[in-house]
Amino acid sequence: MDTKLLFEDAITFETPMLAVFAVDISAGKDDEPRPALLSSQANLQTAAQALLQSGEFKAALGEVALLHAPAGLQAERLLLVGLGKAKDLSLDRIRKGSGTAVRAAKPRSVRNLAIGFPETSALQTDLSPLLTARFLVEGAEIANVDYDTYRSDRKDTSLDSLTLIAPQSDAALQRGFNEGLIVAQAQNFTRSLVNEPGNVLTPTVLGERAKAMCDEAGLKCEVHSSEKLQELQMNAFWSVAKGSAEPPALIVMTYEPSAAAGSEETAPAPNAPVLGLVGKGITFDTGGISIKSADGMEKMKYDMAGAAAMIGAMHAIARLKPAVKVIAVICSAENMPDGRAFKPGDVVTAMSGTTIEIVNTDAEGRLVLADGLHYAKTLGCTHLIDAATLTGACVVALGTLNAGLFSNDEAACAKFESALATSGEKFWRLPCTDDYRDQIKSEIADIMNTGKNRYGGASNAAIFLKEFAGDTPWVHLDIAGTAWNEEKKPWLAYGPSGIAVRSIVEWVRSYSS
Ligand code: BES
Ligand code: ZN
Ligand code: ZN
Repeated sequence: MDTKLLFEDAITFETPMLAVFAVDISAGKDDEPRPALLSSQANLQTAAQALLQSGEFKAALGEVALLHAPAGLQAERLLLVGLGKAKDLSLDRIRKGSGTAVRAAKPRSVRNLAIGFPETSALQTDLSPLLTARFLVEGAEIANVDYDTYRSDRKDTSLDSLTLIAPQSDAALQRGFNEGLIVAQAQNFTRSLVNEPGNVLTPTVLGERAKAMCDEAGLKCEVHSSEKLQELQMNAFWSVAKGSAEPPALIVMTYEPSAAAGSEETAPAPNAPVLGLVGKGITFDTGGISIKSADGMEKMKYDMAGAAAMIGAMHAIARLKPAVKVIAVICSAENMPDGRAFKPGDVVTAMSGTTIEIVNTDAEGRLVLADGLHYAKTLGCTHLIDAATLTGACVVALGTLNAGLFSNDEAACAKFESALATSGEKFWRLPCTDDYRDQIKSEIADIMNTGKNRYGGASNAAIFLKEFAGDTPWVHLDIAGTAWNEEKKPWLAYGPSGIAVRSIVEWVRSYSS
């Protein structure tokens, strides 16, 4: 989609469809809805007046109404998009609103859409132009994709162009638009990876896709396989990988800020932070010898969503050029039962030297990450963040609205939590304090790869990872419940969500010197 920002009058813009936002300004809970446009433009007000007064359109979130040949406008159609109650207006709703506009246009064979920038000055809510522009463009870009590429009857209904129309020129708004576009495109790249089935996206193919992205974006990228795992003594990672006919992939992507003229970049100070992004890339998780039940197992193709989030984040980082070095380490393998597969009771020595008793081969994510986190430290990372579809327990704890957030460091965690205001993603912090350490004590080895019982499984997994992060400031994101969107929404298709890309990118930027 060709996405542009124009500073001009929406009423003179020629387009097949112009979308404008409306809110419900009724005060009380039980009052009749009073829809009102978020525009002071007289022609728009007049064009929408009869509809707004008809009672047909209530401006509820996700609701749309369409007018053809609106008088006083150059647009062929005027689409009213509801954002809900005026007092509840938020950036999140703005994002959902622009997504709704795009998803209303798609089935109507409209290929070129314009969206009028919402005027919120008359409301109590004070939304920054930068963030409003960001959220608008992100919502639209994310909504434009449907994951039906494998259907023979597929009709590509994606928009060709989107024009965001703002009344007057504004540098912050322009910046928000530019950033939003970069981040949303990265998020869509992540989603396209997560959508791929396990037979298509093997660890090797994930490595190829990452490499192709890096070549295009100007990042350094190395893709290693079994020999390198053995050479580095990544036995935790290798134990997961060895039961599959598909070789594993250890993908290392590096972004170095340089003092290029005319860019945001500057050379880093000698003691500058180096950020390590570590992703769980299980391209299919059968559970291994501790095999999963058949019900819903097909979903385990998205067990590489953490890796995909890191690859997407690197794409955005390459384009946003923060002044901080970033190294992404992706540990990708397929978890399969086989004559050569690892077994419950096995003891493996991780790259760090820690011995691990394997109790359940389905707790494989923490094993590949154990070596990934340690390896990132040996590459010089001073701060770590990982993303993983790690535990069903996190889904039980938080459901599908919030992802799990864990950390061993208040400063790194605070930076992540501040990043959420810009990313608009929802993470909820759960504990991994040292007292959880007892849960993973083993009689046989240093630690075991599950907790003593099934309670608090998300924290047990986190305390396992913390063992390998050590004293290095570290943030862990458990995205098991949020990486796949089961329910379609007016603003979002069914399928991969691309969760965490936006927050990781903002977290990285918060270290930019
Ligand atoms: N990939 C799964 C976690 C998962 C569950 C992801 C649901 C997405 C949706 C992970 O490898 C796993 O199987 N974890 C086990 C750990 C247990 C054996 C300690 C789990 O959560 O049941
Ligand atoms: Zn598993
Ligand atoms: Zn898994």
